Amino acid sequence: MIKQIIRFKEVASTQDTAKRFVDQKNELAISSLRQKRGRGRHGRTWFSPSGGLYVSLLLFPEVRVNSIPLLASLTIIKLLEDYGFSHLLIQWPNDVLLDRKKVSGIICERYRNAVICGIGLNINNNRFSRKLEKATSLRIAAGKTFDVDEILNHLVGKFNPLYTELQSDGIKVKEVLNYIDGIGESVEVITSKKIVKGTVYDIDGDWALMLRDESGMIKKFYYGDVRRLRW
Ligand code: BTN
Repeated sequence: MIKQIIRFKEVASTQDTAKRFVDQKNELAISSLRQKRGRGRHGRTWFSPSGGLYVSLLLFPEVRVNSIPLLASLTIIKLLEDYGFSHLLIQWPNDVLLDRKKVSGIICERYRNAVICGIGLNINNNRFSRKLEKATSLRIAAGKTFDVDEILNHLVGKFNPLYTELQSDGIKVKEVLNYIDGIGESVEVITSKKIVKGTVYDIDGDWALMLRDESGMIKKFYYGDVRRLRW
C-alpha cells in the first residue's frame, strides 16, 4: 500500500532514485517532472520531457511478480476511464493503448527484495521515444491539457485498492481479460528465448498468458511481449 509520493523536479531515472529508498521498507512512489535518462524495456530509452508522468512504485509484494505489470496496466486503464477515455487496451503485459496507440509504458524491475514498477504516461507531451512507434498522449486524444500532479495522485489512489485486493487474493483476472488486446487473434509472443505464433485465449489464475500455438498445443507465458500478426 503506497502511503507517500516523493516528488522530484528532475532525476536521471525514477527507477534508480527509487532504489535509494529500498532500505526503509515502506512502499512508496517516486515521481519526477522530467527524467534525463528515462529507461524503457529492452534497454530502450524513454524520452521524458516535462508534461509527461514519470513515476516508479517501490513495492514489496507478497504475490507473483508477473502480476504487477498487469496490475499497473489495469490501474492506468481505470484511471483513464475516470477521465472519460475509452478505447483502452492492454498490450500484454506492459503497454496501455489508447485509440490503438501507446499512451503508457510500464517496466518492472526486481531490486533486492523489492519490485520497482516504473510507469510512464504521455499526458501533455506530444513527442515520444521512438519515432516509428505509434504513440499518443492524453492531450492529443482529448484536445486539451491535463494537470499532471492531479493525475499522479489519482493513479496512486487507483493502484492501492487493486494492489490490496491482489494481495488478499481477490484477483481480478477476468476484469483484466476484458482489456487484453488480441484475445482470439493471431499473435506472436516474443520472449528472450523464442518467438511462438498462435492464438491468445486466456489469462489464467496466476496471471499468465495462455496461447494456443499453431499445432494446437497450449503454451503458458509469464513474461514476453505480444505482437498482433494482423490488425
Ligand atoms: C516501456 O514501454 O518500454 C517502459 C517505459 C517505462 C518508463 C517509465 S517512466 C518512469 C520510470 N522511470 C524510468 O526510467 N522508466 C520508467
